[in-house]
Amino acid sequence: MTAKPTAILISGRGSNMAALIAAAASPEYPARIALVISNQPQAEGVELAQAHNIAVAIIPHQGKTRPQFDAEIDATLRRHGIELVCLAGFMRILSDDFVRAWSGRIINIHPSLLPAFKGINVHARALAAGVRISGCTVHFVVPELDAGPIIEQACVRVAPDDTEETLAARILEEEHRIYPQALRLLASGRVRLEADRAVFS
Ligand code: GAR
Repeated sequence: MTAKPTAILISGRGSNMAALIAAAASPEYPARIALVISNQPQAEGVELAQAHNIAVAIIPHQGKTRPQFDAEIDATLRRHGIELVCLAGFMRILSDDFVRAWSGRIINIHPSLLPAFKGINVHARALAAGVRISGCTVHFVVPELDAGPIIEQACVRVAPDDTEETLAARILEEEHRIYPQALRLLASGRVRLEADRAVFS
């Protein structure tokens, strides 16, 4: 089976991107990281991707309508022959049309146990709610934010003295473990999106 050409969309640090790049370096991995797109020219992840000789496209969102921005991303993905898309700390909301066009081929990682704590300021809200367990989720992207069918999750115990930073750091370690697992499932056809459900085989 040839590895599926995959793009990673980032806005910042890119540590999940790095975990995916590291996993895909293994010869039997079913996805190949062929492109990184960042909407932020200064994103730390940009240099890291370049250091791995991965094609990088900077597509700033400023001064563009959402349809214009999304059309530019879509055209760039198609130009590079991309088949799968991983959102990894990509902090822009994509339009319904874009998401539908890539339906079943676009996934995201979120630092909570969805459907709890969708959106932003996740760790602060988890701590404020007093949950004893939090974690992370990889899911198919659907038009509704952070609501797509779940592919993989990992949980982390919340310690009484956790701060946003300590909790985020422990969850991030799990993110780096499960995102490559989830992409492996998708790229090898062992999970697919069917009628709004993740179907495993
Ligand atoms: C990660 O914790 C990711 O789950 C989160 O942003 C961080 C990006 O870190 N994503 C979201 O909150 C998306 N709603 P990274 O750039 O080092 O991968």
